[in-house]
Amino acid sequence: MKKIAVLTSGGDSPGMNAAIRAVVRKGIHDGLDVYGVYHGYSGLMEGKIEKLELGSVGDIIHRGGTMLYTSRSEKFKTEEGQEEAIKQLQKHGIEGLVVIGGDGSYQGAAKLSEKGIPCIGLPGTIDNDINGTDYTIGFDTAINTVVDAIDKIRDTATSHDRTFIIEVMGRLAGDIALWTGVAGGAETILIPEREYDIDDIMTKLNKGMERGKKHSIIVLAEGVCPATELAEKLMDSFQLETRISVLGYIQRGGSPTCFDRVLASRLGARAVELLIAGKRGRAVGITNQQLVDSGFEEILKNKDRVVDGLYELSQQLSI
Ligand code: F6P
Repeated sequence: MKKIAVLTSGGDSPGMNAAIRAVVRKGIHDGLDVYGVYHGYSGLMEGKIEKLELGSVGDIIHRGGTMLYTSRSEKFKTEEGQEEAIKQLQKHGIEGLVVIGGDGSYQGAAKLSEKGIPCIGLPGTIDNDINGTDYTIGFDTAINTVVDAIDKIRDTATSHDRTFIIEVMGRLAGDIALWTGVAGGAETILIPEREYDIDDIMTKLNKGMERGKKHSIIVLAEGVCPATELAEKLMDSFQLETRISVLGYIQRGGSPTCFDRVLASRLGARAVELLIAGKRGRAVGITNQQLVDSGFEEILKNKDRVVDGLYELSQQLSI
């Protein structure tokens, strides 16, 4: 293998730049030419491909976002779109592709691999919702951003004796809500993986009030329901007035944490090693501190979300 390419796809996440840098530097270190594909799969179909040098990825390890830009492409899901992408790769003589993104990006990479372009996936999403890895690139930075926000909101919640609902991202996964709820000392954490009972929320709030505690933080994963819906339910059922804070896209930006930079660097370098070793259709991850790789099929087939004992612990600590 002489020429490989790298692209980022789907929602951006802090640490993607560190992963791009690792792919480029490790590739060049190992004697390869490395190309960058701009704007994800859309750009791939349009041939937005450029050779990257060592200096192309200088001064990016600490930056959020992705220097290669990203996109979500409907067209790439079609046979026609995939054929166009393959033609572009062949035109540049590219023999292997590293795809940094989430589940949707892996689906695309799996298709390309089936059609003869060896692809290796790297888990890049703040949601931490990808099988085959304990952590995704960007999750650590996002949860630190959220915890910082919770701490700030707690200051004003305390001053005004208010109950706040803080809505966080995560799509159908509750990891961001769970980790930040525990770290931020939330009284209630609602995640899609566990059903909730509105009466339980109120019972807990009442218990706190009996102890003289008049403020409260509810961390709500967006996959459960919108914060406005929960606020209405609390008002209708218990005449409880709440304030809402939807954290939104600040969760996706910012300088990556040390953890995310190191994770991205390790995963990126391993992706290059796998391509050189002739592997295809696999994604790299980290489990129990060890780098691992698994087939896209295996990663994509199991959609059941597993929540470890952290949720139960959160229940015990927020009585
Ligand atoms: O997957 C990352 C994520 O930020 C989710 O948490 C969120 O639901 C979604 O992307 C938002 O997507 P978009 O950038 O298309 O609005």
